[in-house]
Amino acid sequence: MKFYIINGPNINMVGIREKQIYGTMDFNQVIELIQSESIQRGIEVECFQSNHEGTLVDIIQDAYFKNIDGIVINPAAYTHTSVAIADAIKAIAPIPVVEVHLSDIKEREAFRHHSYCAPYCIEQIKGHGPQGYIMAMDVLIKAIGEKQ
Ligand code: DQA
Repeated sequence: MKFYIINGPNINMVGIREKQIYGTMDFNQVIELIQSESIQRGIEVECFQSNHEGTLVDIIQDAYFKNIDGIVINPAAYTHTSVAIADAIKAIAPIPVVEVHLSDIKEREAFRHHSYCAPYCIEQIKGHGPQGYIMAMDVLIKAIGEKQ
């Protein structure tokens, strides 16, 4: 089983940016956590981060052409703005996608409450910090197991 873990703009800055919101763990540590937890689950992961909307669309499409089993995505600020990323997620159905946010977007500014992507994701996980990525992998594993 192979998952793409996709992070959007400024997620590479965690550990530096707004620590009171995103925590003190830096991006490399977040990726290391995801990789070690994926090994424990016998899953292969490939991790991506881009600050560019079109690159994120390319990566989502690539998941389809490479027959990837599932995607965990934190679209970051594009969550609240990007029809293109939402369309890409919709386009690759039935590949299951879980949306993750480090912070609880529903408890923050009103403009963060809406997600263009959420309607096309099997679940949205928010407010659990880096652990949210692990929870998202478990959601994918369960969903794929139930389909087989
Ligand atoms: C975020 C929440 C977004 O609103 C914000 O733009 C981000 C990070 C999160 O992980 O909590 O960059 O996706």
